[in-house]
Amino acid sequence: MRLAKYLARAGVASRRRSEDIIRQGRVQINGQVTKQPQENVTDHDHITVDGKALKGFENKLYVLLNKPAGFISTVHDTHQRPTVMSLLGDLKARLYPVGRLDADSSGVLLMTNDGELAYRLTHPRYQVKKVYHAWVKGLPTKEALALFSKGLVIDGHKSAPAGIKLLKTAYNKRAALLEITLTEGKKRQVKNMCSAINHPVTELHRVNFGGLKAGNLEKGSYRFLTESEINKLYRMVGL
Ligand code: URA
Repeated sequence: MRLAKYLARAGVASRRRSEDIIRQGRVQINGQVTKQPQENVTDHDHITVDGKALKGFENKLYVLLNKPAGFISTVHDTHQRPTVMSLLGDLKARLYPVGRLDADSSGVLLMTNDGELAYRLTHPRYQVKKVYHAWVKGLPTKEALALFSKGLVIDGHKSAPAGIKLLKTAYNKRAALLEITLTEGKKRQVKNMCSAINHPVTELHRVNFGGLKAGNLEKGSYRFLTESEINKLYRMVGL
């Protein structure tokens, strides 16, 4: 991996800032100063910045969980309810959820111990897309759905414009399945938006988080992200 990217992954600074740090001669590989951000390094190289050894990113973990309903997405629960951590076996000591999914919601939940990436993926500034499938009561009119793209006012705050599609109806149009794309992640946002147009959510599933989908991951199971998926997330948030 290129040195600048390696430093960014190890949490030293963004990729661009890491390049500056390297050009300033503050980085050594195996005891030799290098000023080349594109120099290749591996986990076996000893890298220092300003004389301090890097902890390295080899202990960073990135896991995609297909969360079932019935688990809360916090590390601990004061009411002893089952948490997503109980689905992670031995990994649980080292990971935490990126953003949250309500206990009764299901779908893709990224878990990592990479604090900077987690922070950026959930910050509205980086516009990371989250796509939800929401079953709602009744059949919303076109006008009601159009309010999503304008940004609904909830508790006096205007939400960012959201993508909205009607996917199908059921029970003789007494229920509808909506696809909702958000770039911010306020608490209970989808539920609050749907309640605001008088079509409360009865079931909520996240199908996509920053391009990550469950694919054929069974509910309740997880997989590690691939190197290319991690790179894509990094690029998405300017790291
Ligand atoms: N919006 C919600 O209302 N709930 C979730 O779990 C996620 C988004």
